[in-house]
Amino acid sequence: MGFEPSGSRPVILDSDPGVDDALAIMLALGSPELEVLGICTVSGNVPLDTGTGNALKVLALLGRNEIPVYPGAGGPIRKEAVYATEVHGPEGLGDSALPMPCRSTSGDAVSFIVETLRARPGEVTLIAVGPLTNLALAEARAPGVLKKAREVCAMGGAVDEPGNVTPVAEFNFFADPDAARRVVRSGAKITLAPLDVTHRVALEGSQLARMPATHAGRFVKEAVRPAMELAMRLQAGPRFFLHDPLAVGLAIDPSFFRIETVFADVETEGDLTAGQVVADRRAFRADGDRTGLPVRCALDVDAGRFMALFLSRVFSEAV
Ligand code: RIB
Ligand code: CA
Repeated sequence: MGFEPSGSRPVILDSDPGVDDALAIMLALGSPELEVLGICTVSGNVPLDTGTGNALKVLALLGRNEIPVYPGAGGPIRKEAVYATEVHGPEGLGDSALPMPCRSTSGDAVSFIVETLRARPGEVTLIAVGPLTNLALAEARAPGVLKKAREVCAMGGAVDEPGNVTPVAEFNFFADPDAARRVVRSGAKITLAPLDVTHRVALEGSQLARMPATHAGRFVKEAVRPAMELAMRLQAGPRFFLHDPLAVGLAIDPSFFRIETVFADVETEGDLTAGQVVADRRAFRADGDRTGLPVRCALDVDAGRFMALFLSRVFSEAV
């Protein structure tokens, strides 16, 4: 297993930009193995309109205004919307101040996902790095459509790792647990990058000084700064977890990861449990007698190898 041949893997990136979403966009567009068909946006880290504007800003920074952007759901399926502006800043891209390009979006995310998967069954990978609302709405509109994806690579959940919003829930699954359950139960080929791996790969404060003096380098430094300062205040050290880029890494080369198939489902109820990934690893049980469906979960990663790939791809051009 290794890198995909150049341009061989068409992907749709569904995101809630968000700083690490922006880094995921930069990694995806800097990776020759991937052909980014479009970027969908969803309410999550910030309200939908803010996140959509951020996707447009980052594409302009990269000189990639030809990549279409499709806004999606303005909130979760059932729950009240929650945001993560304490991490990403009120505008969602930290302290950066990118100009808003003069261009429009290209249509509706759910329609784009459904139409693309129907037109190219088995070919397109969905890389989901925000709450899974758009994917769940696509499945509700066209039952079985997610199974037409080559793979769903999603940043979300926590299997053996504590949560980051509650003791057991990760933000994307907490923000819309109903959507996460619908996607897990869709029967699609799902590969998760849960907190089990994303808590093992972080940009460190010491790396910021070595960022290239390019537009991309300055953007990354400014974007991650507030989150790093928050981590410092929490005595967690100046670091920024590369949650969303790791989901892109699953599509680039899964050999970075140790992936285990786990029977799992998502809890949607409970003040203490909503958004929890419930993995059935009981011994002496036939698979047919387990709770949940088989989900591929990345539970370990070669952090050094991934970081080297990330830095080389994100800063590959003097942008
Ligand atoms: O828990 C981390 C996830 O929540 C990332 O996708 C981050 O962008 C936020 O959406
Ligand atoms: Ca995200």
